[in-house]
Amino acid sequence: MLSQLDSLKTDALAAISAAQDEAALETVRVNFLGKKGSVTALSQGMKDVPVDQKKEVGAKLNDVRTTITDGIESKKFALQAALDAKAVEGIDITLPGRPSTGNGAMHPLTQIRDLAIRTLRRLGFILAEGPEIETEFHCFDALNTPADHPARNEKDTFYLPDGRLLRTHTSSVQIRTMEAAKSLPIRIIAPGAAYRRDEIDATHLSVFNQLEGLYVSNDVSLADLKGTLEAFFREIFGPNTAVRFRPHFFPFTEPSFEIDVKLEATGKDARWIEIAGCGMVDPAVFTAVNQSRGDNLFDPETTTGFAFGLGLDRLAMILHSITDIRHLIENDVRFLQQFAA
Ligand code: PHE
Repeated sequence: MLSQLDSLKTDALAAISAAQDEAALETVRVNFLGKKGSVTALSQGMKDVPVDQKKEVGAKLNDVRTTITDGIESKKFALQAALDAKAVEGIDITLPGRPSTGNGAMHPLTQIRDLAIRTLRRLGFILAEGPEIETEFHCFDALNTPADHPARNEKDTFYLPDGRLLRTHTSSVQIRTMEAAKSLPIRIIAPGAAYRRDEIDATHLSVFNQLEGLYVSNDVSLADLKGTLEAFFREIFGPNTAVRFRPHFFPFTEPSFEIDVKLEATGKDARWIEIAGCGMVDPAVFTAVNQSRGDNLFDPETTTGFAFGLGLDRLAMILHSITDIRHLIENDVRFLQQFAA
C-alpha cells in the first residue's frame, strides 16, 4: 500500500505538471481526489491494513492527499499568471508614460458665476434656489404680470401639458423665497437656468443663465439698490467702471431700471452695454405673496425691497470678449482651454 501511494503521488504530480489549462487540471483533480478518484479508492483500502501499520499508512495517505491538493492549487495560480502575462505581452512597461495634455479648468460661466456669488455674499446675500419647472403663479401672476403680457405667450414660453412651464426668469425664486420666509429681512441671490423660446443665434440660446437678487426689509431704498449694484459691477469690471441706471419697465418692480456698464475695449470707442434689470419691489408682489402665505408678513404699507436679475452668459461674454454665445455650450476644448488658469 505504501508503494502504491508513492507511485500514485508521482503519477498525480506528473499529471498536474502536464495539465495545460484549468479544465485539464480539473480532470486531474477528479481523477485523483474525486469521489471515484484513485486516492479515494486507496483510502477505502485502509480498513484492510494491519493495525500496526495503520498509523504509518494513514499518515502517508494524508501526505499524498495534501501534496496533490497543494500541487493543483499552485498549478492553478501558475496557469492564471501565464494568462495574465500573455495579456500584456508585447507591452513595454519600461516606456515612460504619456504626459497629460493639460489641466482641467472651470468653464468660463462657472468662473463668472462663482465670482458673482463670492462678491454678493461679501455684501450679505445668501444663496437661494427654486425649481426650473414652475407654476404660472410663481413665474407670472405673483410677479404682477397680467395674463395678456407677451412674455406669457405660447410663442415665448415653453409650457408643459399640465399648464406648468419652464421658468422664463429666475424672478420666480423671489416669490418662492418670500413664501417660505419666517421673518424679515431677506437678502438672497439665486443663480440658475432660465428658458425662452428664442431663435438660437449668436446672442440667444433657449436656455441661459441668470442671477437673481432680492433684498426685502422695512427701510430698503433706491440708494441701497444703486449702491449695492454699483459696488458689485465695479468689483466685476474694475473700480473705475461707469454704471448707469436707465428707467425701464418690469411688472414686478416700480420704479424699474435697466443697468448699463460702460466698457472701453482697447482701440475702440467706449460703449454702454445693458447688463441687468432691477427695481424696487412692487407692492402688488408683496400683496400676492401675503395672499399665498395667508398672513401679512410683507405688509405693503411698511415693507420695501429691491430686486435685480442679471444675465450670467452676457457677463461672461463681455468679460472675455466672446462674440458668439453658442461657444458657451459647444464644449470645444480649443475654446475652453483659453480659460484655464
Ligand atoms: N426678471 C427680469 C428679466 O428676466 C430681470 C429683473 C429681475 C428685473 C429683477 C427686475 C428685477 O428680464
